[in-house]
Amino acid sequence: MSKEKIDLDRLPQHIAIIMDGNGRWAKEKGRFRIFGHQNGVKAVREVSEGCAELGVKCLTLYAFSTENWNRPRIEVNALMTLLVKTIRNETKTLMKNGIKLDAIGDRSMLPKECVQELDEAIEITKNNKNMTLILALSYSAKWDIVNATKNIAKRAKNGEIAIEDINEELIDNTLTTHNYPHPELMIRTSGELRISNFLLWEMAYSELYFTTVLWPDYRKEHLYEAILDYQSRERRFGKTSDQLSPENK
Ligand code: IPE
Ligand code: IPE
Ligand code: MG
Repeated sequence: MSKEKIDLDRLPQHIAIIMDGNGRWAKEKGRFRIFGHQNGVKAVREVSEGCAELGVKCLTLYAFSTENWNRPRIEVNALMTLLVKTIRNETKTLMKNGIKLDAIGDRSMLPKECVQELDEAIEITKNNKNMTLILALSYSAKWDIVNATKNIAKRAKNGEIAIEDINEELIDNTLTTHNYPHPELMIRTSGELRISNFLLWEMAYSELYFTTVLWPDYRKEHLYEAILDYQSRERRFGKTSDQLSPENK
């Protein structure tokens, strides 16, 4: 089993996942797309539990993008209903695994019940210490960067900061992801080879891992494979291989 091969001293602290392929999974079975979304919940549970058991500190799951609002109304509504139900039902699993919930994205676009359910789960799980599960909901990296830019511009205009104060750290601290380290590993399921407006700034140096497994079929074993692949890579950050200390190899 691949779990034993994972070096626990070199785990990514933060894994980000684009959960993709629910629609195709359902289509393959001759079912409606929403059936795929419903069956994706098990994968969310597996991966959250798998990460927490290993000792990964943060897991960001891309659940709904800004662009997903352009899907047919019926699918959007079904997804929002599923979200409310899932957050409610899964809070006990989060408690059992010591997982704290957080969310990033444009809350103003989300239905009221969804925000309520989310806030409740965030409050209930706030003292959990094993791992933080961050749901990217109505999120896109460009949305976040635009908001951060507005915020920085306002502060500069008010004289709170000087133009010279604008640096990478300030931008990092202004994005909605500011509480978390940048993801070292990004996984996308379903064989699509793109980023789809996810964590553009934060993934500047992430290792990218793509698998053709469709999200509803994704299990802990797949997660372990991705982590093992990540551990086989040399992260050079612009340096040459010779410059790296042995522990980075
Ligand atoms: C991912 O699965 C879930 C969301 C984007 C909400 P998709 O719904 O994109 O599934 P495919 O890509 O059409 O198969
Ligand atoms: C990306 O998946 C968004 C989420 C997984 C929530 P999509 O299926 O919407 O991405 P594109 O549009 O095919 O790139
Ligand atoms: Mg898709």
